[in-house]
Amino acid sequence: MGGKARTVFQNLALAAFPLLALNAAAQAGDQAWLQYRPSTMPPNIPTRVVRLGDSQVEKSAAAELVRGLQGLYGKGEEDAKADRHSIVLGTFAEFHKRYAGWKAFGGEPEMYPEVIWEANAPLDRRHQPMKNNFGRAEDAFAIAHDTGLGTQTIFVEAPTDRGVLYGTFALLRMLASGEKPPQKGFRDHPALPIRWVDDWDNPDGSIERGYAGRSIFFEGGNVRTDLAPVGEYARLLASVGINGCNLNNVNAAPHLLDSDHLKQLARVADAMRPWGVRLAMSVAIASPQTIGGLSTFDPLDPDVKAWWAAKVAEIYTLIPDFAGFTVKADSEGQPGPASYGRTPADAANLLAAALEKHGGVVLYRAFVYNHHADWNDPKADRARAAYDIFHPIEGAFAPNVIVQTKEGPIDFQAREPASPLFAGLQHTSQAMEVQITQEYTGQQRHLVYLAPMWKQVLDFDMRADVKPSPVKEILAGRTFHRPLGGMVGVSGIGRDSWLGSPLALANLYAFGRLAWNPDISPEEIAAGWVRQTISTDPQVVSTVVKMLIQSWPAYENYTGPLGMQTLTDITGSHYGPNIESSENNGWGQWHRADHQGVGMDRTVATGTGYAGQYAPEVAKMYESLATTPDNLLLFFHHVPYTYKLHTGKTVIQYIYDSHYEGAAQAAQFVKDWSTLKGRVDDRLYADVLARLEYQAGHAIVWRDAIVQYFLRLSGIADDQGRAGHYPGRLEAEDARLTGYRVIDITPWEDASGGKAVSCDKEACSAEWIYSGPAGRFDLAVQYFDLQGGTAQFTLKVNGQQIATWFADATLPSKRPDGDNSTRRIARGIELKPGDTLRIEGIPDNADPAALDYIEITGAARSPGFAEY
Ligand code: GCU
Repeated sequence: MGGKARTVFQNLALAAFPLLALNAAAQAGDQAWLQYRPSTMPPNIPTRVVRLGDSQVEKSAAAELVRGLQGLYGKGEEDAKADRHSIVLGTFAEFHKRYAGWKAFGGEPEMYPEVIWEANAPLDRRHQPMKNNFGRAEDAFAIAHDTGLGTQTIFVEAPTDRGVLYGTFALLRMLASGEKPPQKGFRDHPALPIRWVDDWDNPDGSIERGYAGRSIFFEGGNVRTDLAPVGEYARLLASVGINGCNLNNVNAAPHLLDSDHLKQLARVADAMRPWGVRLAMSVAIASPQTIGGLSTFDPLDPDVKAWWAAKVAEIYTLIPDFAGFTVKADSEGQPGPASYGRTPADAANLLAAALEKHGGVVLYRAFVYNHHADWNDPKADRARAAYDIFHPIEGAFAPNVIVQTKEGPIDFQAREPASPLFAGLQHTSQAMEVQITQEYTGQQRHLVYLAPMWKQVLDFDMRADVKPSPVKEILAGRTFHRPLGGMVGVSGIGRDSWLGSPLALANLYAFGRLAWNPDISPEEIAAGWVRQTISTDPQVVSTVVKMLIQSWPAYENYTGPLGMQTLTDITGSHYGPNIESSENNGWGQWHRADHQGVGMDRTVATGTGYAGQYAPEVAKMYESLATTPDNLLLFFHHVPYTYKLHTGKTVIQYIYDSHYEGAAQAAQFVKDWSTLKGRVDDRLYADVLARLEYQAGHAIVWRDAIVQYFLRLSGIADDQGRAGHYPGRLEAEDARLTGYRVIDITPWEDASGGKAVSCDKEACSAEWIYSGPAGRFDLAVQYFDLQGGTAQFTLKVNGQQIATWFADATLPSKRPDGDNSTRRIARGIELKPGDTLRIEGIPDNADPAALDYIEITGAARSPGFAEY
């Protein structure tokens, strides 16, 4: 074999290798949106791929393109020699070298629009080439038809190999969505330089607030041997433009910084590097003391500085492109600079100094607050904390520090206003932290597409200096001419198909797309995701997009509307309803509901003064009841239940209505999805259907809990007559019980009437005599599916078995409550007066087959019965 031929052969062999490795991974990107399902080939799409460079990242790009073309059209190959009718991938430098007289599409300088705007900035704020390699220009690309080589040749060209990879994924995204690349060519660059995911994984393999199984990074205290899923994760991240990944919990385990673990982390960085994803880690600020053997971790102590400098140098010998540190300090029990009377800037700058010469950055979290606040103090307000602590020290942070602020001032609630800190730090680069993992938004058991929520915050105009200053422009560094900044998504992916629920993956996808371009609409993102993931069938696309778009409003409706925050078990699971758990404790997520009214007064005039942290125009809007939008009313104001919203409806009536509406929307998702039977993959269909049915049942648990709670507290009736009246409901505590005993449920609102029955015998039963009209009905059984056992339930009518099932879900809480209250429906059951309805429960281990009620509702829609 001649020399040249051998090189080509070797290149092809190298290119093929990652494909094999990727296919071998049990958990792969094709469980997400990188599916490349067979599709009709648009005219003039070349299937030969020419890679001009040899970097790992370009090899990934070429291999991915071949893989995509093969999946979509059945053919695709790398061919180093081809020119005409091929897709050529390369950096500007490589194109110059290969093609004499080549010019970048649109001209090279224009690829850097931010350089142009920075040129107008004051001298000290101009864009300098980034030592840290986090920049918008670095990740830009163009997809162009080369006129010299004929219209059938496509160039993917970029200043850096990472740009080549992003351009390749953009091309594949178009092809997989059934779109042709624009004939005139296409140029793009990210709006935000920092586009990171934070994974909150612990060395033992568990994941803080993760709802999709165990860690892909760690197990048993160490990095896992099999890192194939990590490579696949990086591939997914790169496909939507994410360029950094912090792999460990912000409540950081210090020993990850010891030499042995750093070597292990280097393997993770190696697995991600081919996809242009740089590794970052969370560090505990007390590490010099806890693992370094120093007597102090005072950020101004010279020994502490030297310790960090040496540690960082060690990291860079192992991981030369290490991205940097994320820090949670002085927060929720984490030690911090306050122990020495130092500020967050002192701590951040300590780390920044160590990282600077290596090109690393510090993401210092503004999530700093006192969780022992005095709830009796009407001025105490956790929402104020970030601004109160960080605004006074603005300007004190080193240039490679980015302050990372949660989107709202509390903690990923179903709705919060944009954090006032975004306008309060004008001399510091800023990143906005959002949660992809659905901690407070249904934990992936509920469908909640979060892009519309993030988009509202990105678009919110902070009116800093009385000028237009939407959050997205601040993060992009445009408003205050800051060089860094971006978005960070707390990801929560695990070994269970990435996010557990197939539709939840739309959130990871949307996060990347918005961090790249905050101007894309959530609808457009959703449609792209559906086309790539599920089907390009227009009916499937429109149905799933509609469901996704309605899902956040629905969830907000049946949990905590009007800015009340998520009325969940705030000191426990963060999942089911538990309204009073927010009050009477120091965690500060108070809603102040009492007999007269509800809401937290955060005005300057009579409340905590939080509203005054915004720029004057925004502060004025939130200060006044008349101008506060209804959806944040109770976040800013305490009002009587009879207070009238802008719509004219009273607050209490809105609470009732929104909960009924939200539960009805959740039920509608089941119907919407059912229309897609036969149009989507059967397994996906069944999986999503079961999840949506569960959600519809749990939405009723939420609805009833909030409605009966506020009915009792306010004493004001629902003018629609629904609250407190459940005509078809037969309570377990009123049944003829054999073995079952009546128990109180805590909190009371989580069970119908506050009571349920529980079995501590081998088997128990509850019986009711039906006294309604004869007909065909649906019969819902509301029971508690506890973890730690698989109880069995059987439904009988006149002794005849109608349905039997096992309570085998794993839901939060070890006691029967709103976390695990579950609904099962048997449909189309013939009943006549005098019939005996009976539930038999067989407990198992920690699951006492507890039962709340059965509910007989309207005639079934279809003959026969299908139960779920
Ligand atoms: C939430 C979450 C914690 C997490 C914290 C944080 O409060 O419940 O698990 O540690 O946010 O963001 O630091």
